[in-house]
Amino acid sequence: MNNKGAIIYSGKQLFLIAICCSFLGALSSKAQSPSTQRADWFKEARFGMFVHWGLYSILGGSYNGHTLPDTSLKNGNSWYAEWIQQRLEVPKEEYRKLVKQFNPVEFDADAWILEARNAGMRYFVITAKHHDGFALWDSKVSTYDLGSTPYKKDLLGDLAKACRKYGLKFGFYYSHCEDWDHPGGAVPSWLPQKKEADFEKYWKEKCLPQVSELIQRYHPDLFWFDTWGDEQEKLFISDKRRDELIALIRKQAPNCLINGRISWLSPGNDIDFLEMMDNSYPNELQQRPWQTPATMVESWGWHAKDYNWKPASEMMGYLVSNTSKGGNYLLNIGPKADGTIPPMAIRRLREMGGWMVANGEAIYGAVPVHKEMPKGVVATEKKTASGNNIYIALISPQANPALVLPFNAEDIETCSMLETALPISFTPAGEGKLKLLLPEKIASLSDGVQVVKLKLKMTGN
Ligand code: GLC
Repeated sequence: MNNKGAIIYSGKQLFLIAICCSFLGALSSKAQSPSTQRADWFKEARFGMFVHWGLYSILGGSYNGHTLPDTSLKNGNSWYAEWIQQRLEVPKEEYRKLVKQFNPVEFDADAWILEARNAGMRYFVITAKHHDGFALWDSKVSTYDLGSTPYKKDLLGDLAKACRKYGLKFGFYYSHCEDWDHPGGAVPSWLPQKKEADFEKYWKEKCLPQVSELIQRYHPDLFWFDTWGDEQEKLFISDKRRDELIALIRKQAPNCLINGRISWLSPGNDIDFLEMMDNSYPNELQQRPWQTPATMVESWGWHAKDYNWKPASEMMGYLVSNTSKGGNYLLNIGPKADGTIPPMAIRRLREMGGWMVANGEAIYGAVPVHKEMPKGVVATEKKTASGNNIYIALISPQANPALVLPFNAEDIETCSMLETALPISFTPAGEGKLKLLLPEKIASLSDGVQVVKLKLKMTGN
């Protein structure tokens, strides 16, 4: 480290460090706990696609003259269309009739996964079973499943195959606590609560067997479980049950990742990554790998009247900002019941994909820079064979085009825009700081999130 706090190594030092690292690496790969290795792909990937798709997609957020959110109904004040059964009070027998209507004839697994891949996403997670209890595959455990619909193909199998074909990791959301169909599954707080013995029955005869079934049939790379610290979690997801579910997965699929919302209140030490609350972005660095599940609109499931589409540039900001804190961004789409992805989502996916083609270097495999950045600016870092690079992402417009950063000007070899290679002039700003002089067009973000690349010098003497 030089006297201004920046790390600069000479060629000789680098050589020695490389030898030490490969020695330590060989030692630590043995000593490393399986969990750290398991999550390596996840930490590298940074960007994934989430899909909420099921019977609720047929209703698209409206039922019987009501549309979510609807404050005339006691519990109707939510945009979440996948909650329609409970929030718009659809009688169970009525909701169950949707099974006979679920026939996504336009569904094309390759087309979906290609959209994800072209958006720059490296993994894919779909709701195998959401809170309504409906299984999106032909389950041996329950007849409330895809096998009872007019659609006879294996949706999840086709998606798993497409993911493997296009190099994406594949995962399942599985609602392990809430299950509104099984008599013992947890239900929302405003309904009569289930008894422990009933939940145990659900756990043993539906939840655990279905998770096993998903593993045996589809070999997922990741499980996304869902709790959020409510009464039902307190009542039913004890550490014992959490560990039982984890043990089942570890035994049958040792490389499969498990998210922290298996128990929001008590995730324990054997999960692979922390899952933030919906659309929430932590300000601090986290101790473990983590991600934010996020929506493009308000709802997760398809909602025809949710017009609140976020601009792609805002979502790119979340992705790069999470990356700068060591986290991932799992961005949701809610396909329509016919199997198509709404064009509004496709437009955003493609815009983000374009951005990733030009700027992905600042995202994939990039890690946090442990320095405080100016407001509206985040930074990531990547060590490559040809040297170290720092990526400065402007995520909100900078009123002042002279941007002062906490890096030493002497350590910088070149400074340029990542996308165009436009050279950016820089000067020392005193106290180990650096001043970039940004063209007005770049500082104002007239073309979305901008990334400046600082290539650091390799040698000190
Ligand atoms: C919440 C909601 C659910 C959604 C999930 C995604 O837990 O209950 O509908 O699937 O968040 O993060």
